[in-house]
Amino acid sequence: MTAYDAIADWYETTFLTARHDDPLDIGAALRELLGSGSGPCLELGCGTGVHAGTVRELGRTPLGIDVSAGMLRHAAARLPVARGDAEALPVATGSVPTVVAVMVHTDMPAYPAVLREAARVLAPGGVFVHVGVHPCFCGGFADRSDERAVVIRPGYRDPGWTTASWTDRGLRDKVGAAHLPLPALFHAVLDAGLTFERFAEGGKPTPTVLSWRARKPSRHLSNPAILG
Ligand SMILES: C[S@@+](CC[C@H](N)C(=O)[O-])C[C@H]1O[C@@H](n2cnc3c(N)ncnc32)[C@H](O)[C@@H]1O
Repeated sequence: MTAYDAIADWYETTFLTARHDDPLDIGAALRELLGSGSGPCLELGCGTGVHAGTVRELGRTPLGIDVSAGMLRHAAARLPVARGDAEALPVATGSVPTVVAVMVHTDMPAYPAVLREAARVLAPGGVFVHVGVHPCFCGGFADRSDERAVVIRPGYRDPGWTTASWTDRGLRDKVGAAHLPLPALFHAVLDAGLTFERFAEGGKPTPTVLSWRARKPSRHLSNPAILG
């Protein structure tokens, strides 16, 4: 039983309904950064599968993986899914052209290991899109109860797990959330061997979501010196 099993029905019927108009620009970021293409697109932590339609609109074939059987019960109607851990993907090395992770890194305390797995399963030249909670303006340290001002209390520099939250209508107070300061998050992408290409921020007036597209190099230079 995972934490999300207990809240899967609430997530599908209440939490996602409040986000139907994409107030945090999550769908917009996924659309912009992933772009049109073809072939399989593996979604890590697909949850109830709410992004499958966007992936299909872009011409791609969504495939979902998640640890929560409760979340996957909803997702199964939207995309082909498998139950599994994003830290140890049941997917062959170098086999998929695109991997996406949408609003999951705060649910995955070992996100650096997840990024290494994403890089492993990506084909050379493959694309990884991350859409996630903005580490600078969201977290147990960020009080957003006044929509005119985000109050940042001490805690941003401390990586870790918390259930402290300014609201009882979100996820953090129910299942907890991990925090990685921005440099640690960016270093984890670079350490996985991925190269940043584009960034986006979503949510107004202060961003709530930070997203990027990164790519697995199409080949490794055995002798970088030849570049001069
Ligand atoms: C906030 S939900 C996001 C779901 C979906 N991506 C969305 O945007 O609605 C986080 C999801 O990550 C899943 N998850 C957490 N840890 C995981 C892991 N190690 N491997 C796979 N899925 C995981 C949870 O079960 C949950 O469904």
